[in-house]
Amino acid sequence: MSLTKRRKFRTFALLVCIITFTTFLFSYTLRDTYSSLHFFKYAFHLSDSKGLCACEQCIVELDDDPWFAERFNQSIHPLMTRDNSALSDETYKWWQWLQAERNPANFTQVVEELFQVIPDEVLYMDASPERCRTCSVVGNSGNLKGAHYGSLIDSSDFIIRMNQAPTSGFEQDVGSRTTHHLIYPESAIDLDNSTSLVLIPFKTLDLQWIVSALTTGTITHTYLPVMSRIKANKDKVLIYSPTFFKYVYESWLEGHGRYPSTGFLSLLFAVHICDQVNIFGFGADQKGNWHHYWEDNLLSGAFRHTGVHDGDYEYNVTLLLADKHKIKMFKGR
Ligand SMILES: *[C@@H]1O[C@H](CO)[C@@H](O)[C@H](O)[C@H]1NC(C)=O
Ligand SMILES: *[C@@H]1O[C@H](CO)[C@@H](O)[C@H](O)[C@H]1NC(C)=O
Ligand SMILES: *[C@@H]1O[C@H](CO)[C@@H](O)[C@H](O)[C@H]1NC(C)=O
Ligand SMILES: *[C@@H]1O[C@H](CO)[C@@H](O)[C@H](O)[C@H]1NC(C)=O
Repeated sequence: MSLTKRRKFRTFALLVCIITFTTFLFSYTLRDTYSSLHFFKYAFHLSDSKGLCACEQCIVELDDDPWFAERFNQSIHPLMTRDNSALSDETYKWWQWLQAERNPANFTQVVEELFQVIPDEVLYMDASPERCRTCSVVGNSGNLKGAHYGSLIDSSDFIIRMNQAPTSGFEQDVGSRTTHHLIYPESAIDLDNSTSLVLIPFKTLDLQWIVSALTTGTITHTYLPVMSRIKANKDKVLIYSPTFFKYVYESWLEGHGRYPSTGFLSLLFAVHICDQVNIFGFGADQKGNWHHYWEDNLLSGAFRHTGVHDGDYEYNVTLLLADKHKIKMFKGR
C-alpha cells in the first residue's frame, strides 16, 4: 500500500468507527427511554415515520404504545348516523340498562324521526397526513379559576365543553369559543348558533327529547323536569353513539363505575376526532376540591362520591394518556 492509500484507508476506518459509535450511542439513547424518543421526534419535527397527521405529534401513532393500541379502536365512530345506528342486542341491552327506562319507544323508528330533523352526515373521520386538527377539551373543574387559559383554549380548531359550562364572565380563564357542547337532556343549556350540540343519549326518550326540544316542545319531563325547548342550531346537532359509549366504558374504563362521566366521554370523543388534544379543567383543584369553576360552593362536584362514576379510575386513565403524550394536560390552580 502506498502512503496515500494507507492514509485514505486510515481515514476511512476512522470514519467507520465514528459512524458506528454514534449510531450505537444514538440507538442506545433511543431504545433507552421513551422520552428521548419523544424529544427526538419533537426536536426534529418528525411525526411518526408513517406521517399519520400533519401535526408535530399525532394521537394515532399506535406503534409507540401497546397500552394505547390495545384500547384504541378507530373503527368505532363516536357519532351516530343512520348507517351505524343499529345497535347489537348486547349494546342495546347495556344502554337501556343505564337509566332503566320503562316502556321505551321503538328505537329504529325514533332514530328515523331523529334524522328527519337533524343532518345525517359522517363527520370528522377524515384523518390524513395533511390534517392537523387541534382540540381543547374543557372540563368544569374549579382548578380553572384564575388559571388564565382563555386565549390558549380559544386558539384550538375545536373547543369542546360540557353540561352547564358557562363562558360568559369567565373568558379569561376558560375562553369564549365553543365548537362542540356535550349535554344530555337533564344537563342541557341554550347554545349559540355556531356551536354543535352533541347529545349524549342514555335512553330512547333522550332521542325523542332532542327532536321535541328542537320542534314541538312537547316533552317536559324525563326522570327530572327538562327544558322543553332548547336554543341550538339544528343543522349542527350531533348524537354521541351508544356503541361508542359502551366502547369507552369497556375498553377505556374496563367496566369501572356504572358508566363514564360526561368529562371522560368528551375526552375520548376528542381522542377519536382530533390529531392533538389539550385538556383543561379536569381533576380537583390544588386544595383537593371538586367544585365547578363557576360555583363558590367547594363541596359540590357532580357524582364524585355517588358511585355512578369511578372518578379516580377515570383520572388515572387520563393521567396515563398524558404520560404517554397522547394528550396534554393543563392542571390549572
Ligand atoms: C374494533 O371494533 C370493531 C367493531 O366493533 C371490531 O370488529 C374489531 O374487532 C375491533 N378491533 C379491535 C382491535 O378490537
Ligand atoms: C320497530 O320498528 C321497525 C320499523 O318500523 C320494525 O321493523 C321493528 O319490528 C320494530 N321493533 C319492535 C321491537 O317492535
Ligand atoms: C344559524 O345558522 C344557520 C346555518 O347553520 C343559518 O341558516 C341561520 O340563519 C343562523 N341563525 C341565526 C339566528 O344566526
Ligand atoms: C391509580 O393509580 C395509582 C398509581 O398507579 C394506583 O395506586 C391506584 O390504585 C389507581 N387508582 C385506581 C382507582 O385505579
